[in-house]
Amino acid sequence: MTSWLQSQFSLTGKKALVTGSSKGIGASIAVAMAQAGADLVLVGRSEDSLKSTHDVIEKLGKSVETLICDVQSRSEISAAFKDIDQLSVDIVVNNAGSISRAPAIDATMEEWDRIIDTNLNSVFQISQLCARRMLQKGHGRIINIASLLSFQGGINVPAYTASKHGVAGITKALANEWGSKGVNVNGISPGYISTDNTEALRNDADRSSSILARIPLGRWGNPEDLAAAAVFLASPAAAYINGELLTVDGGWMGR
Ligand SMILES: NC(=O)c1ccc[n+]([C@@H]2O[C@H](COP(=O)([O-])OP(=O)(O)OC[C@H]3O[C@@H](n4cnc5c(N)ncnc54)[C@H](OP(=O)(O)O)[C@@H]3O)[C@@H](O)[C@H]2O)c1
Repeated sequence: MTSWLQSQFSLTGKKALVTGSSKGIGASIAVAMAQAGADLVLVGRSEDSLKSTHDVIEKLGKSVETLICDVQSRSEISAAFKDIDQLSVDIVVNNAGSISRAPAIDATMEEWDRIIDTNLNSVFQISQLCARRMLQKGHGRIINIASLLSFQGGINVPAYTASKHGVAGITKALANEWGSKGVNVNGISPGYISTDNTEALRNDADRSSSILARIPLGRWGNPEDLAAAAVFLASPAAAYINGELLTVDGGWMGR
């Protein structure tokens, strides 16, 4: 028998869409949501890239569908999401993201556009496309993967910082408009997590040791450290949480 408390953290009967679920944080969140009982829609740039996450979720006995698009492209998103109302997703995790590292004085406008399109514009477009059905149903959860650079400036990542400040802003703006209609919008701000996104930092001995020295838990995070936080925000347990950015950073922001 399922206790009241267990049901508060269950996603059984829900359908969750996760962008950038080929690897890293997105793959971990997608698998955790399946383990919590959800069926999945994986969004990625190719069927091949999504295959390993797809296979893990299928083995868990959950239904899994895929939508293929490059989220940098507005038209590819429109085409891939054209039947999104029929999929009727309950949970959206806007996780796909990219980073560009160069001193501000050397950064190109092409890279600026790539990062803003990928990390910020796609979040608004996908949220809007999915929210139409959620608002009709009067229920939905949107979780945007923000960053510590939603609050801080960072070093040599100006476009990324601007995009993630934007993700924090759009999270609160959508929460204000859609919360009263049953759609909660929240974000997660990961700290320094061991994925391809941070490989260059971990390969830089000086940056790596100065980052580690500031993390009170004394270790980098793993994608799994984010997964349960995302399940929580998607679950009934988080029904009264809206417009919040949950920092999961081993204590970095407290220093
Ligand atoms: N790692 C950290 O320390 C950290 C900290 C704060 C925030 N974040 C955020 O967490 C999210 C996930 O990052 P991660 O660390 O898991 O990095 P990752 O391992 O590099 O994964 C990034 C994911 O996004 C997808 N993606 C990137 N550009 C895309 C595009 N144009 N179209 C479709 N999919 C695209 C990638 O797909 P492909 O397989 O096709 O490349 C991959 O699935 C990002 O939003 C990132 O900014 C990460």
